Amino acid sequence: MSGRLSGKSGLVTGAASGIGRAVATRFAREGALVAFADRDRDGAAAAVAALDGATQAYPLEVDVSDEEAVARAFADVLERAGSVDIAVANAGVQLFGQDAPVGDLELPVWQRTLGVNLTGTFLTVKHAVRSMIGRGGSIIVTGSPTGIVGGGRGFTAYSTSKAGIHGLTRVAAADYAAARIRVNAVIPGYTETPLVQAIVEDQEARSALLSTVPLGRAGTPQDVEGIMVFLASDESLYATGALFVVDGGATAV
Ligand SMILES: NC(=O)c1ccc[n+]([C@@H]2O[C@H](COP(=O)([O-])OP(=O)(O)OC[C@H]3O[C@@H](n4cnc5c(N)ncnc54)[C@H](O)[C@@H]3O)[C@@H](O)[C@H]2O)c1
Repeated sequence: MSGRLSGKSGLVTGAASGIGRAVATRFAREGALVAFADRDRDGAAAAVAALDGATQAYPLEVDVSDEEAVARAFADVLERAGSVDIAVANAGVQLFGQDAPVGDLELPVWQRTLGVNLTGTFLTVKHAVRSMIGRGGSIIVTGSPTGIVGGGRGFTAYSTSKAGIHGLTRVAAADYAAARIRVNAVIPGYTETPLVQAIVEDQEARSALLSTVPLGRAGTPQDVEGIMVFLASDESLYATGALFVVDGGATAV
């Protein structure tokens, strides 16, 4: 298969669902060898099974908050493909009904959110870097507008985890530019996936949210694919340490 990512190999976390699934699927269709990494083994297997045509995709069970599991996942891609060129640290949780304004936020909710979103991203970026040293590569993390502006009211742990991810992106980009390892963040706006089911099902909350989006509609996982392919490919060789917002204009107003 030939495509914009032919000859490249890598891993996408959170690939059993939503944005990660769409991105991993697109990477596979663009010719990359892709591990669909997720703690949901059956979901990752189903995502790979749903691919039409010949691809080099395969499911990989990994909990991103477990360092040994993350290290094993990168070793697996290296062993199969001989290189890791692309890593997307995308797995995340948003604990609706539990995340809260800081005065009301319970420590276990903070720890669980930070453990997956921030520590999981740190571990993924750490082992991506180790597997790319000497050869270079592209690391992409999934950030959020809630890490830039105060639009995630009541989501203290989630917003903080995403702001941390943006900081990690910039420092890692600066530290590894000389090694030709690029690190960028993609920041999707409100994107209808299982993560935000609570909003999708609440017509009033959904309408209020959509009224803040200049392009006038919710994002879909497919809306995020194009920028991810660009950043994973050699078309973006001069881009590093940057935040790429795909939010229908929400943070522009
Ligand atoms: N949907 C949105 O509106 C939106 C907006 C901005 C940013 N994001 C970010 O996009 C990313 C993907 O979210 P989504 O909307 O596709 O959500 P989703 O719930 O559809 O998918 C998240 C995936 O991550 C996996 N996951 C969760 N914890 C994991 C762990 N510990 N180890 C491995 N896998 C784990 C889940 O099993 C699931 O398959 C997240 O980082 C999220 O914060 C989403």
